[in-house]
Amino acid sequence: MFKVAIICMSDKGFQGEREDLSTKVIEEIMLKKGYIIVKKILIPDEKEIIKENLISICDNNIANLILTTGGTGFSKRDVTPEVTEEIIERRTPGISEAIRNYSMGITKRAMLSRATSGIRKDTLIINLPGSPKAVRESLEYIVDELKHGLEILLGTTSDCARK
Ligand code: MTE
Repeated sequence: MFKVAIICMSDKGFQGEREDLSTKVIEEIMLKKGYIIVKKILIPDEKEIIKENLISICDNNIANLILTTGGTGFSKRDVTPEVTEEIIERRTPGISEAIRNYSMGITKRAMLSRATSGIRKDTLIINLPGSPKAVRESLEYIVDELKHGLEILLGTTSDCARK
């Protein structure tokens, strides 16, 4: 059973001007797949706050996986990918490429998501876009392969022979 933390970056959500439906979508999908939700936070699009939270979850080994939602677009306040890239130790570009590649078949606007992903210590961090629709499309596409990646990350398997 892997532990997952969900972080929603949204100024409007944080100020109570918009309901955070994206976290609910992530929670629903991950619970169905047997993950344990260990943390859910809603924070503003503030570089230092995002950074503090990501580092704290990774360095205290609170979660094996962090799924972020929001802040991946072109608004001046969208800084999730920059902060993620600042704190990861190893990049996992294939995950973000796969999300964009699949999403482009749904909407060409998927090219506007600057989402990234990577590993810090024993935690994988994946940026998802902000809307509940985009979150569902992105996460449902990648979720089944994450387990194998996490098993390798945590050293519980080294066997990739299956596929
Ligand atoms: N990806 C999928 N699968 N479905 C979508 O509807 N919307 C796009 C894109 N990725 C979308 C998607 C849009 S319109 C934007 S602006 C970017 O994600 C960035 O979203 P964010 O700023 O909410 O993170």
